[in-house]
Amino acid sequence: MKLSRRVFLFNILSILLAIVVASLIYMISMAISTQFNMTSEATETLEHTMERQTLFVQLEKEITHLPVEKVTDDMVNALSSRLKLVEADIAIIHNHTVVASSIPLSRVDVIALVQGFNFSQDIINLSSMKVQYKTIPLLQDNGYIFLLNEYHEQTFSIWLNVAVALITFLLVYIAMSAYISRKITKGIIQPIERLKEAAIQISEGELNSFIPEEGNGELLELCKALEQMRIKLKESIDLQQKYDKNRSFLVSSISHDLKTPVTSIKGYIEGILDGVANTPEKKQQYLLTAQRKANLINTMIEDLLLYSKLDLKQMPFNKQPIDFVSYITDGIQENMELLKSNRVRMETEFNINNNSMVYLDSDRFMRVVQNIIDNALHYHERQDPVITIMLRETYSTIILEIKDNGKGMKEGEINRIFDRFYRSDEARTVDTGSGLGLAIAKQIVEAHDGNIWAKSQEGVGTSILISLPNYKGGKGRE
Ligand SMILES: Nc1ncnc2c1ncn2[C@@H]1O[C@H](COP(=O)(O)OP(=O)(O)OP(=O)(O)O)[C@@H](O)[C@H]1O
Ligand SMILES: [Mg+2]
Repeated sequence: MKLSRRVFLFNILSILLAIVVASLIYMISMAISTQFNMTSEATETLEHTMERQTLFVQLEKEITHLPVEKVTDDMVNALSSRLKLVEADIAIIHNHTVVASSIPLSRVDVIALVQGFNFSQDIINLSSMKVQYKTIPLLQDNGYIFLLNEYHEQTFSIWLNVAVALITFLLVYIAMSAYISRKITKGIIQPIERLKEAAIQISEGELNSFIPEEGNGELLELCKALEQMRIKLKESIDLQQKYDKNRSFLVSSISHDLKTPVTSIKGYIEGILDGVANTPEKKQQYLLTAQRKANLINTMIEDLLLYSKLDLKQMPFNKQPIDFVSYITDGIQENMELLKSNRVRMETEFNINNNSMVYLDSDRFMRVVQNIIDNALHYHERQDPVITIMLRETYSTIILEIKDNGKGMKEGEINRIFDRFYRSDEARTVDTGSGLGLAIAKQIVEAHDGNIWAKSQEGVGTSILISLPNYKGGKGRE
C-alpha cells in the first residue's frame, strides 16, 4: 500500500478508535452515575417518580377549582397521607396566607410559591429545601393547592460525563498518535536514514556493503532498487577493472613472451643479411627456422586473444545437447593418424550409458580434448606411449579422464599447470607452445559449468580429469 495512503489510514483509524473508546467510557460513566443515583439514599427510583406524577395528575382532577370553604382539616389530612406515600407534601394558600400545609412555610416561601406559579416555574428554592411542585388553582383567584416534593440534584451531571468522554478521546488520540509516530520512525524514518547512509557510501565508492531489505511498499522497493544499483555498479566497476587488468596483461605478455621468438627471427634474418649463412643450404635452414618462429608467434597471439576473450566472457558459446560417447569416439578417430605417426597406443575405458548427454559447444570443447592429447604426446619420453581415455558418470556429472604414461609432473607443478603461461622448465626448452593451452582449457570447461583438474606422478604419468553436468540428470531432465 502507498505510504501516503497508509499514513492517512492510520490517522483515520486512530480517530475512530478514540471515538469508540470515548463512547464506551461515556456509556460506562453514565451507567455508573445512574447506578450511583439509584443507590443513593437521598434519591428516589424512577418508579417512585412515576407514581408521584400519576398521583399528582389524579389529584388535579379530583380537587381542581375547589372552593376554599371546602378545605377542611380532614380533607387536608387525607390528601397529606396519600401524598406521603410518594414522599410528597401539600400546601394550601389563599390570599398569601397558609390555609393548611404538611411542611413549614415562611412568608417568603409563600410568596416564592405563588410567584413561581405565575412565572410557570416548577422548581424553586424554599427556605427548608429545594422543591419541585405542581399547582392546582382553587375556585377563588388567590387560592392555590401546591403539591410538592423535594428536588434532588443529579450527582453526576451530563456535562461531567461529556467531559470525561472528551478527555478520553483526547488521551486515546494522543496515545495513538504517539504510537503511529513511533511506528513511522521505526518503520520508515530509520530505514530511510540507513538508506541515506548506504547512498552516501555508494557515492564514496564503497560498494561492498549489502543493502538490507527493510520496511514495506515503496520503501521496500527503494531498498531493492538501491541494492540492484549497487550490484550493477559493482559489476561494471569489476568488469572495468578486469578490462584494465586484461589489457595490461596482454601488453606485458606480448612484450615479454613474444620478445624471445621475435629476437630470434631478427637474429636469423641478420645472419642471412650479414652473410653468416653463406651457403644456400644454410640460408634455407635459417629461413625455415625464422618461419617456424613466426608461426609460433602467430599461434601465441591467437591463443592470447582467445584467452583474453574467454577471460572477459566475450566468447559466444553455441551449446547443444550432445551424445558424449559418440562425441569422444569421433574425437579419437580424428586423432588416430596423429597418434599412429607418434606410435602412441590409444586405449578406452567407457563406464557410461551410450546415450549420456552433455550440453556442449562441440568445437570449443574439442579444443580442450585436443590440447590434453597434444600435451600427452609432447610430454613423454617412453618407447611405448599409451593414452587411455576413460568415461564414467555419476547421477549429476559425466567425468572424462585422459591419462598418459608420460614423464608426469613434480607435486608442486600440478596446481600451476592451469595458470596462464605456466610451463615447466623442460617444456620451456621446446619452442612450440605458449603455456596457455590448459589455461584456455580451464576457461572453456568452466564456461560449460564443469571442472578440470589433474593427477600426476613423476615418472609414472599424468591424468587430466574433466567433469561436466550430466544433461539428463540436470538441466534438461524431464
Ligand atoms: N601430460 C602432461 N605431462 C607432463 N606435463 C604436462 C602435461 N600436460 C601439461 N604439462 C605441463 O603443463 C604445462 C602447461 O601446459 P599447457 O598445455 O598449458 O601449455 P603448453 O603445452 O606448454 O603450451 P601450449 O599448450 O600452449 O602449446 C606444460 O608446459 C607442461 O610443463
Ligand atoms: Mg599444451
